[in-house]
Amino acid sequence: MHFHIMTLFPEMVLDGLHTSIIGRAEEKGYISIEAVNIRDYTLDRHKKVDDYTYGGGAGMLMQAQPVYDCWKALDEKITRRKKNEDSRKTRVIYVTPQGEVFNQNKAAELSGEEDLIFLCGHYEGIDERVLEEIVTDSISIGDYVLTGGELAAMVMIDAISRLVPGVLNNGESAQTESHADGLLEYPQYSRPEVWHERKVPEVLLSGHHANIAKWRLEQSLERTRQRRPDLYEAYITAHPPQPLKNRRK
Ligand code: ADE
Repeated sequence: MHFHIMTLFPEMVLDGLHTSIIGRAEEKGYISIEAVNIRDYTLDRHKKVDDYTYGGGAGMLMQAQPVYDCWKALDEKITRRKKNEDSRKTRVIYVTPQGEVFNQNKAAELSGEEDLIFLCGHYEGIDERVLEEIVTDSISIGDYVLTGGELAAMVMIDAISRLVPGVLNNGESAQTESHADGLLEYPQYSRPEVWHERKVPEVLLSGHHANIAKWRLEQSLERTRQRRPDLYEAYITAHPPQPLKNRRK
């Protein structure tokens, strides 16, 4: 999977993503991450990429020309590499607090793409006309405002990358973790058996796999009910409790 990030701060994105698991996944070739500086495409003599907004108002706006030319160069490069194997347009994700809110389902959906372009805005945003021409998806990482789209793009790239086959060492961990099935993950314990007079729940020491699985599901359900009632309601609606069979009268 190839990530392409259009930004005014390429080093910020690359520094953040070149470490730990995502960095290793890139070294091993499961993913690639490139950051393109939008400023390199401005036709302005002074390398300016922003200007005042028509109609007045505070702040500066990123102009259409450098954003469009940067996208065009990138999109053409990707299309050349694909060589007619895939005629679909590469999705362009505009990271913005005005977008649909990102979640695990969205991460899973996007992890199936071969290439993704992220467009990071700065200042007061980007001229609407270029957004209309190039953006396919507008996505937010939450109902709060950041100073730019870079951190939001990094969050999404991290969440998407770890769903790409091979990126995590143990394929199972992406399936059992929080949000994978709409529930929060159950509590987990490692050695020692007793720490600060707190004992690991007995069932986990029993070696009885069915009982352990049952205990974990109960813990997940209870944790989700307490901490995220919205997710709990959605889960119960999708998985209504089964009536008990063979019940004695
Ligand atoms: N840019 C600024 N705030 C943002 C947010 N919450 N999500 C995505 N991009 C943003």
